[in-house]
Amino acid sequence: MKPYPAYPPIGMFDSGVGGLSVLRAVRSELPNQPVYYLGDQVHVPYGPRSLEEVRGFSEEITRFLISLGAELIVVACNTASAAALHWLRERFAGVPFVGMEPAVKPAAEQTHTGKVGVLATPATFQGALYASVVERFASGVQIYQDTCPGLVQEIEAGNLEGAETRRILETALRPMLAAGIDTIVLGCTHYPFVIPLIESIAGPAVRVIDPAPAVARQVSRVLRQQDNFRPGNAPGPLRAFTSGAVEDFSRTLNLLLGEARAAEGVVWSNGRLVPA
Ligand code: DGL
Repeated sequence: MKPYPAYPPIGMFDSGVGGLSVLRAVRSELPNQPVYYLGDQVHVPYGPRSLEEVRGFSEEITRFLISLGAELIVVACNTASAAALHWLRERFAGVPFVGMEPAVKPAAEQTHTGKVGVLATPATFQGALYASVVERFASGVQIYQDTCPGLVQEIEAGNLEGAETRRILETALRPMLAAGIDTIVLGCTHYPFVIPLIESIAGPAVRVIDPAPAVARQVSRVLRQQDNFRPGNAPGPLRAFTSGAVEDFSRTLNLLLGEARAAEGVVWSNGRLVPA
């Protein structure tokens, strides 16, 4: 056992508010654990950017979180995981990383129609990680993909059920549903916030897979291996950083996470992240 309060924070990041869907699951699985979350909102969306550029952001954000004491990094972003997970593990040898990959494996196991829809960003679909899960787990399953252009921006703005959000999702889902999918994989951490809308379009017969709870269980396993699991009943401190507008981020934290927090600002300066 470590002497209290030597429990280092979990460092988590995303391009914006999407990783809050993972943070929500981590808070529910590990309510006592300190967490530092960073949303790189000045650069959101990551999805249309090159993998190299997203890798550069991810490396610097990781360095920043480690400099604040994080000993475990959760890449709470499918796009950053696709672009950088492998690289980060090499670059920060000795630091454990938990990343996101589209949940094609459970979808392939659960589908009855043999047809699965995957919603993710262009960069995620381009990355080797996605190609590898499809190759390993989806043989014999037909995959229908869509990048849902504009959806990340609507969710960033807190529009979880507006007309434009519905239009984007209907455009993506209608052809897949007509083709007979019975399972939808959410391959972008922003998308769990629109599950109610997705379910209202897809209907009760279609299963929607949010990978966040499984990721939170993996985070718990790694913390225990590190002897960094914090027992007790005291809610873990949460710090939330954004490279975007601090007040907007505080509001969104409250809306999406139900936790009132004053977010802290960070700025990019010559490729480095520094407190605002
Ligand atoms: N939340 C992200 C993901 O999981 C990134 C979305 C974006 O910035 O384009 O892919």
